Amino acid sequence: MAGEPATSLKPDIGSGLRIPLHLGVIMDGNGRWAKMRGKRRTEGHVEGVKTLRNLVELCINYGVGTLTVFSFSSENWTRPPDEISFIFNLLRRFVASDLQRLIRNNVRVRIIGTRRGLEPSLVRLIDDAEAKTAHNTGLNLVVAFNYGSKAEIAEAARHLAREVAAGRLSPEAIDEAAIGNALFTAGLPDPDLIIRTSGEQRLSNFLLWQAAYAEFVFVEEHWPDFNEATFRRVLETFSTRERRFGGIEAVGR
Ligand code: FPP
Repeated sequence: MAGEPATSLKPDIGSGLRIPLHLGVIMDGNGRWAKMRGKRRTEGHVEGVKTLRNLVELCINYGVGTLTVFSFSSENWTRPPDEISFIFNLLRRFVASDLQRLIRNNVRVRIIGTRRGLEPSLVRLIDDAEAKTAHNTGLNLVVAFNYGSKAEIAEAARHLAREVAAGRLSPEAIDEAAIGNALFTAGLPDPDLIIRTSGEQRLSNFLLWQAAYAEFVFVEEHWPDFNEATFRRVLETFSTRERRFGGIEAVGR
């Protein structure tokens, strides 16, 4: 159930299922979930955070290596100011109140997206969460906040251009690895599975470069209703997919 801890899990829980090395999640539908229940949109976001907590536990228990969640896109600035500040406060509370639990669970936190335009106190909070978990070796929890993939790629291009202009890099050395290393996700494997909830079938500027070979699974549930049963169903679908990476034979994990 959304919001309930996944305490019933056993270590062999993922057996028979292919577990993604890197799972990306577009958490969509908080607003619609709330509207269907006659609640305010912000109440949907509150439930959405509970679902995220639950998913982090599921990823730890099933052995997912990296979880990247899309929690605020650079395009979300067009939302009403009240809703924006509510989501910002949710991030603050998520980082501040969950940090000790994340540390205890050996989770390494990374917040990707541009820090420009964020309040200095929020930047300090997320820098602190990254620093305090930097040496953890369990799940990588990557929160895409104030994130847009095209802007990320443009930023990487500017960085590489500056390196070339300074004579530290030759243009011929700009290959896929060099670009990958200039993205916010440097050092992480590319996502092998991306889930989007709420029935929409779009990437919406999420991990465009990194998702080149990802499998996509779209589920009808709104984000607050995403639970362990949905997670298992998605993993079952993922387990049946053949990944050929442009070749002709299926490639396992
Ligand atoms: C998607 O629903 C939700 C968002 C884009 C932002 C809020 C995300 C959360 C509350 C989850 C965890 C967040 C943090 C900060 C850790 P929507 O508002 O797009 O729903 P709709 O498409 O039905 O309107």
